[in-house]
Amino acid sequence: MSKKTLPRALRPRGRLHPLILAMVLAAGGTAKTTTTVILATILSLRGYIVRVFDLDPQCNTSEILGRREEHKDPNQKTIWDVIQGLCTLDEATVPGRYRVGFDEDGEPIFAEIPNLYLVHGDSQLTDTDTLLANKPQKFNWFYNLTGQYAKGAMVAQDREVWLLDLPANYGKLTLSTLIGMDEDDEVIPPLLVTGKESGALEKLLRELLRMQQEFAGDMAPAAPTVKNILLCATPTSSHNAQEYHDTVEEVERDYPGMVLPYVRHSGVTAKQYRRQVTPPISDPKSAPSVDYEKVADALGFPDLEETA
Ligand SMILES: Nc1ncnc2c1ncn2[C@@H]1O[C@H](COP(=O)(O)OP(=O)(O)OP(=O)(O)O)[C@@H](O)[C@H]1O
Ligand SMILES: [Mg+2]
Repeated sequence: MSKKTLPRALRPRGRLHPLILAMVLAAGGTAKTTTTVILATILSLRGYIVRVFDLDPQCNTSEILGRREEHKDPNQKTIWDVIQGLCTLDEATVPGRYRVGFDEDGEPIFAEIPNLYLVHGDSQLTDTDTLLANKPQKFNWFYNLTGQYAKGAMVAQDREVWLLDLPANYGKLTLSTLIGMDEDDEVIPPLLVTGKESGALEKLLRELLRMQQEFAGDMAPAAPTVKNILLCATPTSSHNAQEYHDTVEEVERDYPGMVLPYVRHSGVTAKQYRRQVTPPISDPKSAPSVDYEKVADALGFPDLEETA
């Protein structure tokens, strides 16, 4: 079950834009956001420069990272502006934060998470399909973004890596992002074993294949690849229904060698939405923090402070 991997190339094959890991599965509530935020925080604490893209109109990633809609400066650019070509990626990027308390007026006080940056989410992303239907040239927005690094218009930081939280569907927004990924990048499907999304993994693999065929020969690499599968909310002594074990066994059998270290079921994950503090910061010894540390190891991200 446990996998040990060599340190990951952050600029595979000498390319100039960062390695991309995208959490994708067209099933609601399968821990895409949870995985994005916790993994991003762990990697940033390990010394990586992490840029998190909140591509889901629900903006849950932005919320957890201290950027709820009500805290947003009206002039702050977002991913929606990036897609439309109205601002640079850096203009839509803000430091990730966590809530440390409240001031006397009850307003939240935030501290920044070092090394973690958020491409600000936007509820207007619900209009992306219409935008991309009316302006088909914008469909290449993400690929064009990576192309700016190849042209030298953007320069990635040495230890920079990108984590993408995508919505639970294979609409135009998801496709337009995935076509900018190549086989060195990674689509990571998180699967909540307590959920009912059996078949969602198969559908994802079919969808990626279809996308590769549809866009073959186009400019964009369009080779998003699943190398690892993440099982979340796996059984514990207090959360132990047979069907959870059956789901784990089924996935291990159907996808041999691809299953990452398990993330156990834990109530701690649910708290991060309300508290706006993610477990590696609020509860570093909790099951999700410990388990996602192992996931980070298995994905090939050793602690850079230790290896320096
Ligand atoms: N390891 C875990 N143990 C228990 N609950 C978990 C675990 N991981 C995630 N959850 C819970 O599952 C629910 C869905 O998680 P999350 O919001 O991350 O999913 P999602 O895939 O981003 O959802 P959506 O499709 O709506 O974007 C949340 O309530 C979260 O707290
Ligand atoms: Mg989500």
